[in-house]
Amino acid sequence: MRVLVTGAAGFIGSHLVDRLLTDGHEVVGLDDLSSGANVRDDVELWQMDVADPAVAARVAAFRPEAACHLAAQVSVRASVADPAHDARVNVLGTANLLEAMRAAGGRKVVLTSSCAVYGVPDALPVPADAPLRPASPYAASKVAGEVYAGMYRALHGLDFTTLTLANVYGPRQTPEGEAGVVSIFTDALLSGRPTRVFGDGSQTRDYVYVADVVEAFARAIGEAGGGGRFNVGTGRQTTDRALHTLVARAAGAPDDPAFAPPRLGDLPTMAIDPSDTGTALGWEPSTELSDGLEKTVAWARSRAPQPS
Ligand SMILES: NC(=O)c1ccc[n+]([C@@H]2O[C@H](COP(=O)([O-])OP(=O)(O)OC[C@H]3O[C@@H](n4cnc5c(N)ncnc54)[C@H](O)[C@@H]3O)[C@@H](O)[C@H]2O)c1
Repeated sequence: MRVLVTGAAGFIGSHLVDRLLTDGHEVVGLDDLSSGANVRDDVELWQMDVADPAVAARVAAFRPEAACHLAAQVSVRASVADPAHDARVNVLGTANLLEAMRAAGGRKVVLTSSCAVYGVPDALPVPADAPLRPASPYAASKVAGEVYAGMYRALHGLDFTTLTLANVYGPRQTPEGEAGVVSIFTDALLSGRPTRVFGDGSQTRDYVYVADVVEAFARAIGEAGGGGRFNVGTGRQTTDRALHTLVARAAGAPDDPAFAPPRLGDLPTMAIDPSDTGTALGWEPSTELSDGLEKTVAWARSRAPQPS
């Protein structure tokens, strides 16, 4: 199938491009390279803003059956500092892509949302039908994208599936993303720098390995899951303190973080329930956190400057 991947040079998007090519799909990427730098020589890349009106002509020429939409302003903190920029990329960019796909006769858009849309949940792990309580411009922009997609499905019959991602980690991740703490601990522990944990270390997150995440996208581009929202996470909470221990073990470094005051606005706990994703898409996470962290640390070690 012909598939367009926006955000193709980013952390998750680049793994998705690799996976879709392995599956035999014809893939074109779109990325403005504002943060992503993972570019393959053998894949066509449109270097452009996803909100650019010129996207429509490129999409019309390629005629993708499905688009996986990962291009985004990805930082919660940056969205609070500059909500208009966040909305321009995340809301206008999504509206622009949906309209381009409709006009080109595309079948489906797979949206990339975030567990941040659930805010402070009533219970954990959060089911995919829990109330949406975005607590940042970033989370609000992800909800807006989903509302637009639902409207396009009703108005024009362009199908969509929303994948709501937990904190994604793995090779090629950067410190800016939602699982940036894995990168930060890894880089510091490999280079012998001190690490710090905010608060008392009991804050929790749900860490899902990038290869498992792209498996969910590979399934969602098909007919299954049309019009639905699906959690792509493990359902399990890992404390910051426990994460530090696992990364330190994988890096062969001391497990001795400093503790800093808690950061205002950080959600205390999070985990999302992927049961519906199993039912609709046949997806479940298959990578143990310790195994995924071993691979992530091995990748980071392979690119660290070698002592001369
Ligand atoms: N990493 C996570 O833990 C996580 C969790 C939940 C949701 N997500 C979502 O997954 C998607 C991918 O995130 P990622 O972690 O791979 O981040 P990333 O920053 O590595 O990838 C985003 C890509 O989008 C590109 N981009 C940014 N603005 C653009 C624009 N205006 N036009 C075209 N391209 C643009 C960037 O250059 C980058 O390559 C995003 O939609 C993000 O919100 C990520």
